[in-house]
Amino acid sequence: PERTLVLVKPDGVRRGLSGEILRRIEAKGYTLTAVELKNATPELLAQHYAEHEGKPFYAPLVEFMLSGPVLAVVAEGQGVIPGFRSLAGATDPTVAAPGTIRGDLGRDWGLKVQQNLVHGSDSPESAEREIALWFPTF
Ligand code: GTP
Ligand code: MG
Repeated sequence: PERTLVLVKPDGVRRGLSGEILRRIEAKGYTLTAVELKNATPELLAQHYAEHEGKPFYAPLVEFMLSGPVLAVVAEGQGVIPGFRSLAGATDPTVAAPGTIRGDLGRDWGLKVQQNLVHGSDSPESAEREIALWFPTF
């Protein structure tokens, strides 16, 4: 079955929104097959965010992702890759539609990196690559 990697980013964990975010994934009908609170490392993030290396937001993004624990989740179900991105909403919480995780719960503090609560894989190839990074034994 199709699966995706979801991360509740440090802002989501800090604000106590992990349960609410998992609730929305399950309410949509997806299955949680792995859930683990983890501390990222610079090495892991360099691989996870390799596509963004060299962009102006890259260093602040890595620093933000190291600012506290991350809840790593594997979710499974038909269409879960685009389906979770639809649940998450647009990257910028200010313009993310109401009804989405970022639109309902995210805010823009004018920070140098988007603190947008969640990550979701954007393709089957990214999903398998990212699951292997965050759950090496899975
Ligand atoms: P993810 O699910 O986290 O990958 O979000 P995304 O696919 O909507 O965004 P993308 O992969 O393009 O960027 C990864 C992360 O970098 C985003 O979620 C933001 O946290 C941050 N980011 C991306 N673009 C910008 C930007 O233009 N400015 C700032 N400040 N942060 C950005
Ligand atoms: Mg992305």
